[in-house]
Amino acid sequence: MISDAIDNEQVEILLNDVLETHGYDFLEYSHASIKRRIIRLYGLDNFVSFAEFRYTIKTDKQYFKRFLEEITVNVTEMFRDPSFYKSLRNDVLPVLGTYPFIRIWVAGCSTGEEAYSLAIVLKELNLLNKSLIYATDINPSVLEKAKKGMFPLNYLKQYSENYLQSGGLKDFSTYYTANYSLAKFDESLNSKMIFSTHNLVSDHSFNEFQLILCRNVLIYFDKDLQHKVFNLFDGSIEKLGYLALGSKESLEFWPKAKEYKRVKMEKIWRKL
Ligand SMILES: C[S@@+](CC[C@H](N)C(=O)[O-])C[C@H]1O[C@@H](n2cnc3c(N)ncnc32)[C@H](O)[C@@H]1O
Repeated sequence: MISDAIDNEQVEILLNDVLETHGYDFLEYSHASIKRRIIRLYGLDNFVSFAEFRYTIKTDKQYFKRFLEEITVNVTEMFRDPSFYKSLRNDVLPVLGTYPFIRIWVAGCSTGEEAYSLAIVLKELNLLNKSLIYATDINPSVLEKAKKGMFPLNYLKQYSENYLQSGGLKDFSTYYTANYSLAKFDESLNSKMIFSTHNLVSDHSFNEFQLILCRNVLIYFDKDLQHKVFNLFDGSIEKLGYLALGSKESLEFWPKAKEYKRVKMEKIWRKL
């Protein structure tokens, strides 16, 4: 049966190979979810033995690219959790608007929908000109898509509803041009974005930010790794800066959590 195709020991072997051969460390990702994705990939690509699967991942660079894409979950959407964007619009960005310059890091940005949503809110608050959004991800393929700012047109109805629920006041369609099956977003939005690969597990802090968004990424990490990443963020957020997490993520149990204050009901914390 496919669910028995790969056992825990084999998962360990694969992840150690990936670390040694390709330099990506997935050993502290949540075990159940990474195992599920490995088994899924094994089935999808019709491997007949673990040995063949292991050999291909180790030696075929092209296949490793596919492995990376399948192992990392890239699901995202624009204005995901509208109440979160409402709080950014009403509680967080107006405070940052009093600064001369706003540096924001979107960590684990996937194909960019979150960074474009943020840029739209900044634009509507007249803050985009003095902002810079650093959008990073472990997976180079999603960043290539993010740079283009083109999203499937059939998702736009949902995105437009999310935008309105988040407090957006404009006609959402003014932000993009429809081109066959894609919506191409206004270049004024991504002119304020810098896309780059960055691995939260192994790479260091690269700047100081007033706001870091890392949403729906840490959910795939085990507790120790989550705490390591919180320390990385702590070293990258200015005093009185903000950290935003996904709806199922929390700073709770992280030893330094008391140095942060929650903003209302959202998963947003301010560094004291
Ligand atoms: C589920 S998506 C979340 C996208 C977006 N933040 C959102 O909330 O809609 C998770 C993203 O985290 C990225 N990711 C996973 N592990 C990472 C790591 N170690 N460093 C940086 N990004 C990582 C994945 O490639 C993926 O694009």
